[in-house]
Amino acid sequence: MYEQEKTMLAEAAIKHVKNGMVIGLGTGSTTRSFIDVLGKWVKAGGQVQGVATSDETAAQAERLSIPLLSLEEATRIDLIIDGIDQIDQQFRVLKGGGGALFREKVVALMSREVLYLADASKFVHHLTGPLPVEIDPFARSYVERFLQDKHVDATLREQDGKPFITDGGHLILDVDLKRVQDVHHFAKELKSLTGVLETGYFERQPDHVLTVEQGQVRRLVHPELRDGGGLV
Ligand code: A5P
Repeated sequence: MYEQEKTMLAEAAIKHVKNGMVIGLGTGSTTRSFIDVLGKWVKAGGQVQGVATSDETAAQAERLSIPLLSLEEATRIDLIIDGIDQIDQQFRVLKGGGGALFREKVVALMSREVLYLADASKFVHHLTGPLPVEIDPFARSYVERFLQDKHVDATLREQDGKPFITDGGHLILDVDLKRVQDVHHFAKELKSLTGVLETGYFERQPDHVLTVEQGQVRRLVHPELRDGGGLV
């Protein structure tokens, strides 16, 4: 069911792409659907340049002949289109389920506009996590002890029975937020620890989010922006 929603979201998202734009390309299964649609749009003559947030996304874009720029080459990023793991009513967002949180966050911070695509499963009352935390391997026990002292559980992310390694060569701790009262403050505290590169709590909130409600795509607008949103 969510697969069908992802396709609908991808087809709605392409309407936000205009000729000449530099687009931040997120990571994950939702964005993968969008990049497939973008590939067709480019093949049909659309002109766009992408900035990839992961090696996986870069490989997909290259396969589809979507021109890519490195972050250094991009003089601006007009719009990032990406998926999310959780979003609450205040538009607070958790990302990083695919392990690309650091690059996704940098590109989001550099984008003039942030558009996230979220099927119905991503909406929550409270951010419950897990909160991915990207760390240098050397600092693992230091960060784990910090979390233990706070009685917060964390699991080292694994893939195929081995520690998951990010594109930047780091580890990810998936941190349970059940005992955390204030996620914003907690993420800030984590960020201040030596050895923590980034967390999946995205301070740059989306300007708008596309979702599917009762079989129709709806655009939700950040509570502080007053352009209304509505059915797409
Ligand atoms: C990648 O690191 C993540 O931030 C993804 O964007 C997020 O996990 C959403 O992934 P899906 O679209 O696969 O649900």
